[in-house]
Amino acid sequence: MTNPWEKISLSDYEEHMKLQDIMQLQTLNKIMQNQINQYPVKTITILGIAGGNGLEYINPEKHDKVYGIDINKAYLEICKNRFPILASCLELKAIDLMDINTKLPKSELIIANLLIEYIGVETLIKHMKQTLPKVISCVIQKNIDQEFVSSSPYQQAFQDLSSIHTDVHEELLVECLKTINYKVIVRKEYLLPNKKMFIRIDFKMMR
Ligand SMILES: C[S@@+](CC[C@H](N)C(=O)[O-])C[C@H]1O[C@@H](n2cnc3c(N)ncnc32)[C@H](O)[C@@H]1O
Repeated sequence: MTNPWEKISLSDYEEHMKLQDIMQLQTLNKIMQNQINQYPVKTITILGIAGGNGLEYINPEKHDKVYGIDINKAYLEICKNRFPILASCLELKAIDLMDINTKLPKSELIIANLLIEYIGVETLIKHMKQTLPKVISCVIQKNIDQEFVSSSPYQQAFQDLSSIHTDVHEELLVECLKTINYKVIVRKEYLLPNKKMFIRIDFKMMR
């Protein structure tokens, strides 16, 4: 069965996300800047990279390898064309992360922003157990009395996502990552218009 994300055009996704009363693309961009610069790592994997929001903060002189993973091949093609400057370090891979037999590349930092909602905590844990990054930095969305998709002229395009979307419970995420030896080192809230909130949580592998 086709994943609903493969039927959503990148322009519908990005135009929706950057509307003034949604502001999620801009907020994720700022968060990515911080996620990329906060840790002295040479290898990064970005899960659910879409069109590469935030890739402008990658420095090919500092970052040896950056993997971008997404199920939507068309997003990856656009992403590649947007960042020719990263040709030496950026490797884009079309992978369905629901396939737990897929082996992710090894890297020190894994970024997963607004992705866990679509693969679930259990699947994330299976991938993390296999790849064992030093740091996992993720953003989850909290909807305060609201639908997970904000109202907009583009919202029709996201209709089918409700079949795969689940709210991520912060406590469950923290508890599950604890079972594989990760502890919370950063927690930040970002209030958004429309009674929504992003929660960024970074986890560090305990020795
Ligand atoms: C809400 S978007 C997040 C995009 C991005 N992180 C950002 O900052 O804008 C979710 C992304 O995850 C991808 N995705 C969803 N399910 C996936 C799966 N099973 N395997 C790989 N990628 C998936 C979608 O194609 C989409 O690009």
